[in-house]
Amino acid sequence: MKSKLQSIVLFGLVAISIETVAAQSLLEAIVTPFRQKEIVPVDNKQYQDECGSCHFAYPPGLLPTKSWEKMLTAEALPNHFGDNAELDADTLKVIYDYAIANAADKSYYKRSRKIAIATEKIEAPLRITEVRYIKRKHHELSEKMVKGNKDVKSLSYCDACHTQAAKGVFDADTVKIPNHPDWED
Ligand code: HEC
Ligand code: HEC
Repeated sequence: MKSKLQSIVLFGLVAISIETVAAQSLLEAIVTPFRQKEIVPVDNKQYQDECGSCHFAYPPGLLPTKSWEKMLTAEALPNHFGDNAELDADTLKVIYDYAIANAADKSYYKRSRKIAIATEKIEAPLRITEVRYIKRKHHELSEKMVKGNKDVKSLSYCDACHTQAAKGVFDADTVKIPNHPDWED
């Protein structure tokens, strides 16, 4: 699979070097069957421990590189959404490198691709919940299902409803909204 993928990438580079729109859409057509459905789950212990202590450890594939570059700095982390999420320099480097390597725009998983496309031409969002694609997927949820729900509190707590979030699975079939078993009606 990997070597096949590599040759596809190589072919893709050749195709892009021709610099035609046709070559690019051909590349897209070839790569599509290799896409994975959901999102890569967190598989780095330091990231899991440090970034999962206050909230769900968001898989890096939920935001593009430019967002992680903005968020994961020694200057930004002490003032992280009103909290202090400061890290020592060594830990920060591990977490930064891990997030950058697995950012949405570097992934072929379906949700990451959608997020990469939705954020391509805009300034780096700091919130996943601000990404157009994510907003659109939740716009039918009522206030009382989210903010007014004592077991959810905000859309930022993905794992309150997405029961398989830790496995990187966000499909509608695995959703359970606390106190609203009938959300689909
Ligand atoms: C000291 C607690 C704390 C730690 C540690 C922490 N965060 Fe946060 N984080 C927060 C709070 C508070 C929010 C805002 C939640 C809300 O609005 O309900 C937040 C929000 C976020 C969001 C935006 C979620 C959204 O609304 O889309 C991201 C992304 C994020 N954190 C990533 C990280 C990463 C990566 C780390 C590890 C470096 C980390 N956080 C560590 C407290 C923390
Ligand atoms: C209040 C519960 C709740 C929270 C919190 C929540 N979601 Fe969802 N999410 C849903 C529901 C319900 C759906 C299905 C919507 C539909 O299909 O009508 C959904 C759909 C999605 C989808 C699309 C699934 C599909 O099959 O197309 C993605 C991706 C997603 N959520 C990601 C997230 C992320 C990332 C977070 C955290 C930043 C989050 N969600 C927080 C309830 C929630």
